[in-house]
Amino acid sequence: MNKNYYITTPIYYPSAKPHMGHAYSSIIADFFARLKRIQGFNVYFLTGTDEHGQKIQRAAEEKKMDPLLFCDEISKTFRDLSDTLNLSNNDFIRTTESRHAKSVENLWNILEEKGEIYLSKYSGWYSVSDEAFYTESEIEDLDGTKKSITSGSKVEWVEEESYFFRLSNWQDKLIEFYNKNPDFILPETRKNEVISFVKSGLKDLSVSRKSFNWGIKVPSNKDHVIYVWLDALTNYLSALNYPNESDELYKSFWPADLHLIGKDILRFHAIYWPAFLLAADIRPPKRVFGHGWILSGDEKMSKSKGNILDPLEIIGNYGLDPLRYYLIKEVSFGNDGNISQEKLESCINSDLANNYGNLCQRVLAFCDKNSNFEVPDNNIFTDDDKLILDEYSKHYDNLIKYSDNQDVNLYINFIVEQLFAANKYFNDQEPWKKKKDKLRMNTIIYVALELIRKVTILLYPIIPGSSLKVLEIFGIKEGNINFETIKDNNYLKKGHKLGKLDILFKKIEKND
Ligand code: MSP
Repeated sequence: MNKNYYITTPIYYPSAKPHMGHAYSSIIADFFARLKRIQGFNVYFLTGTDEHGQKIQRAAEEKKMDPLLFCDEISKTFRDLSDTLNLSNNDFIRTTESRHAKSVENLWNILEEKGEIYLSKYSGWYSVSDEAFYTESEIEDLDGTKKSITSGSKVEWVEEESYFFRLSNWQDKLIEFYNKNPDFILPETRKNEVISFVKSGLKDLSVSRKSFNWGIKVPSNKDHVIYVWLDALTNYLSALNYPNESDELYKSFWPADLHLIGKDILRFHAIYWPAFLLAADIRPPKRVFGHGWILSGDEKMSKSKGNILDPLEIIGNYGLDPLRYYLIKEVSFGNDGNISQEKLESCINSDLANNYGNLCQRVLAFCDKNSNFEVPDNNIFTDDDKLILDEYSKHYDNLIKYSDNQDVNLYINFIVEQLFAANKYFNDQEPWKKKKDKLRMNTIIYVALELIRKVTILLYPIIPGSSLKVLEIFGIKEGNINFETIKDNNYLKKGHKLGKLDILFKKIEKND
């Protein structure tokens, strides 16, 4: 079995500071990267910034800055956010790096040599904000301004000489590719949208611009810069040192296992990207998952709408793990989700402080008083003990399936159920009444500690910082977390001295 796993986030436009939507893409990707790592995969996790194109050039001009200096500044805020979000990325790519330009030029040359690119003239609508071309049927007139129907961004008329990619030639081959790889696009609803778009007919795609110069030049004609999406998508290859196909990174990790993206950029990833790659004889990625949007009210959060929530502010007020937990649990993955302070607070109080934090604190406090703060000896498990402990081995294959199918909500629902069950177990077993039957009391403590260990391993990809504090008391360090050990009911060794645990999550007091 191939134990390498390559996962990517979209690369972000450093046109303005990062917002919650960006944080969401990154946190979800980090969740999968960590989950796969503890399942024994050699994971390569990539994120970065998408720095060329007219959108960035204009944003720099507005600030009267050189575009590269402008990108240096804002790209750094994205890199800093990766640290603040505790992302476990292996690389952070910037499309202004020379390693990237080399890959893009190489891909372009192959496409040109294969006759997939030709010179002509583009005339049509373009949205600088989306860096996308739109047909007449994809735009509408709102109060005298032409806008894209799907994104709501302003479009402008462009007429210039341009290179075109023969996308129309790839229509049937793309359909064949989707049929052969039914899980290439997820979720299913998005896949259907893409397929019907492709079936409705693909036009050749303009892949160069002449009217500005902030980008990678077409190798054979320096008057043109390469279309920013062809440039940007190639980041997934350039980070693996493509075109050096004998490079270890490339050999181990291409094709990518999962491009995690927002639904707004599905067309680029699920149509253009595999078409470019198939045309260049490079294997397409295995999967593209289009997640939903984080809404503010009922609108997509975006800089142009002026309704952005600052992840740093939320983290400053509530902490990182609560935000990670909230975004992963409360947004139904694949759909849009509305985030609010009220929902975030109730999630912290009920799930994190009451359910998980309280379970850890009360069991450890009981150990402190009754088992010398050590893992006690376990006696024979009763049916009740076995029933709750075995839930993890019983659901093990499902949990792996959820991880492989990006069923985030099923994965986290299992955790929440187990947290309730563990608290209920400890209440029902009433170890405080068993002080005369030391063997039974110790077994209850043992079972409760095992349950904490198991559920914490499942929580690690979601709330890594807090989970590591809990795993630390069992002597488990980050590099040694092994997902498979959730099946083991006798993992903890008798006599192991438990470490102290500070309060994990403070309850938010509500002033009604
Ligand atoms: N630069 C391109 C991606 C190139 S990938 C080869 C881009 N950048 S972006 O900064 O505009 O968006 C990056 C990601 O953030 C996208 O996946 C987008 O869907 C996501 N989000 C931006 N706003 C969002 C929300 N309000 N909610 C959730 N995610 C959204 O597109």
